[in-house]
Amino acid sequence: MRYSTVIFDLDGTLLDTSPGILSCFAKAEEELGLPPLPPEERKWVLGPTLFDSFTIKYGLDAARAQEAVDCYRKHYAAGGVLNCKPFPGIEALLADLQAGGLCLRVATSKAGPFARQALEHTGLLRFFDKICAPDLHNKKSNKAELVRQAMEGSEGPCLMVGDRRFDIEGAHAQGIDSAFALYGFGDEWEAAACRPSYLLHSADELRPLLLGKGCFLCFEGGDGSGKTTQIHRVKAYLEQKGYAVRLTREPGGTPVSEAVRGILLDPNQSMDPLTEAYLYAAARAEHVRRVLRPALLRGEVVLCDRYLDSSIAYQGYGRGLGEETVRAVNALAVDGCLPDKHYLFLLDDEEAERRASRRSQRDRLELAGEAFRARVGEGYRALAKEEGVCAVPAAGSEEEVFAFLRKDLDRFL
Ligand code: TYD
Repeated sequence: MRYSTVIFDLDGTLLDTSPGILSCFAKAEEELGLPPLPPEERKWVLGPTLFDSFTIKYGLDAARAQEAVDCYRKHYAAGGVLNCKPFPGIEALLADLQAGGLCLRVATSKAGPFARQALEHTGLLRFFDKICAPDLHNKKSNKAELVRQAMEGSEGPCLMVGDRRFDIEGAHAQGIDSAFALYGFGDEWEAAACRPSYLLHSADELRPLLLGKGCFLCFEGGDGSGKTTQIHRVKAYLEQKGYAVRLTREPGGTPVSEAVRGILLDPNQSMDPLTEAYLYAAARAEHVRRVLRPALLRGEVVLCDRYLDSSIAYQGYGRGLGEETVRAVNALAVDGCLPDKHYLFLLDDEEAERRASRRSQRDRLELAGEAFRARVGEGYRALAKEEGVCAVPAAGSEEEVFAFLRKDLDRFL
């Protein structure tokens, strides 16, 4: 497993505490005669410390802000703290993670006694072996410091899960990975600005990430190597075995990537090799973020017809950009999302040529000529030596090739 410890933020990540918090802010406003925040700004106070909210958002000086914090807490202690509920799927998720042997902790800016009370009230306290939170008198809480405390004594890599930039920045400060919970109080803009390792649309997406059940298989080879026929057979085979399978392709797999595919394969287009490499990478960036990674997070087996290896073979070797350049162009697009296994369909140049010449309709890449195809073949043969690559003898009959794949899949999955 990639992580041994998961550190959760509380408000907006584990619990939807917004009803209790917002009603206590309203009471403090009323009691202290503060001008109420406009409705569209109310959500801002969900996340930062109370002291920061009253100084920054309400513009109070330190003494008055402390008065406001005390007033808020009076109401919060009187019942606001219990006005909360776990986000959908959280309780079942925590149970699965605990059963999977992960160590679960909380790092929250909420005052410790309130954090414990809310977790106890919602039945979640039993899952955590450590709650790191400031005490009631601490005006300034520092998320990075709380994350550090939560990491203490962990036996392996930690993942921080939070819904505001403070959580992600705290994780960055401690050099650990982070996941931004988009279902909480932050939004996509905030998430994009703080660069978390993962985006979560629901709590359930953490399960496969943490328990490591998703699997990414790519199918690679020259044009006409038969991989597309085989990928469909593999899909049917794995579905019949009970796997949730996601079949997709590159370039393509999303509306934007399919539009880019149209440009790339159009025989009437002509472009610089570097432009070509960037367009394949752009289509890939979209595909990774919208299709591949979410499917892997849901624990699906992803079958991808072509991926990064195609760029290395076609643009790196075929167009002569070189493997290093192509990997550099793709680094951000791929963002660490790499196949667990590469099925590489290999044909000798003569057979590849024979199959290519049989195709009636040829796209721009297929029209690039014999010497180009030979260089692509050379690229694939070089890739075949790398780790995680299974060289498929593609010259066999459809049945023979499928039998080969089935045997390997049975062993691998
Ligand atoms: P496609 O019709 O999907 O090819 P095939 O049916 O042979 O798999 O067309 C994709 C073409 O794009 C193919 O010629 C290979 C090329 N390609 C690249 O040059 N670089 C890449 O990164 C990818 C994904 C594909």
